[in-house]
Amino acid sequence: MAFELPARGVVLGVASLVLKEGATIDAALAVVRAAVDSGVLAIDTARAYATVDDDAAGERIAQAARAQAPSIPIITKAGHFRVASHAWDIDGSAARVRADALRSREVLGAPPSLLLLHRADRVDDLDASVRELASLRDEGVVEAIGLSNAPVELLDRARAITTIDAVENRLGFGVDAATEYRYCREAGIPFLAYAPFGGPKAEPLPTRVPRVAALAIARGGSVHRFALAAMLDAMPGAWPVIGSTRVESVLDSIAAGDLEVDAELRQAFADDLRSRGVGL
Ligand SMILES: NC(=O)c1ccc[n+]([C@@H]2O[C@H](COP(=O)([O-])OP(=O)(O)OC[C@H]3O[C@@H](n4cnc5c(N)ncnc54)[C@H](OP(=O)(O)O)[C@@H]3O)[C@@H](O)[C@H]2O)c1
Repeated sequence: MAFELPARGVVLGVASLVLKEGATIDAALAVVRAAVDSGVLAIDTARAYATVDDDAAGERIAQAARAQAPSIPIITKAGHFRVASHAWDIDGSAARVRADALRSREVLGAPPSLLLLHRADRVDDLDASVRELASLRDEGVVEAIGLSNAPVELLDRARAITTIDAVENRLGFGVDAATEYRYCREAGIPFLAYAPFGGPKAEPLPTRVPRVAALAIARGGSVHRFALAAMLDAMPGAWPVIGSTRVESVLDSIAAGDLEVDAELRQAFADDLRSRGVGL
């Protein structure tokens, strides 16, 4: 089954809802509930979004979204996992991918909508891992498969083996190159653009998109919302995966899907990216 999302909108990632210092399940559920109520398109989780006591903390949060909205797509990832309080390991081997997929299905109570190989860039035998992903899709353990953190060279290799239903790579405003987005756009592969704001430790957003920020402030709007709206407008086939940990910020970002993007905002965004050497 292919992986499809409505044309325009955002995906909520739950990494920080699990991993942020002081994270609580009640706070996470409040954010997810608000996001689902406001029309977030999907939930992004991973085996790696775990606590020391619960290997499936992130998937349980995703499962809560599914309990609220049974048809909401759940994206999860295999081959990267927590081993101690401050330590994660990577094993993207075929055997580990299968074990992770089965555990994800068990926790979610149904096949994940999309299973990604979390660190495609750190796998010893990518071909074997991709063949295993394809088998898991054929068997119905997962509905769709893809790669995360995959440069173009690895995407080419994987696509020579099987159909890749989606790609999830980092694409922060004015920080990351859009190479894989352009590749996926041409190939018709949905592109999940994670950490659009550059993550929680990025330099302040207004310093990266100053023209968009000036416009947002002049119009009395939020810089995050304006930047996300401009991204949705400029990058069809890309779905931002945002990592809000507050109800207020998740609602603000989801509202970007409804913000009208006019010529002035479109130009401001293009100029901001160009001035940082990022072309679309
Ligand atoms: N595939 C991978 O390898 C990979 C790697 C990293 C991340 N991801 C996925 O991507 C998701 C997002 O990653 P991220 O959290 O690093 O990136 P992010 O969304 O770029 O950054 C999150 C930061 O943006 C802030 N923010 C979001 N919306 C805002 C708004 N409207 N106004 C003000 N601040 C706002 C958040 O603030 P608050 O916390 O205060 O809300 C948080 O500090 C993760 O949850 C995960 O699902 C995937």
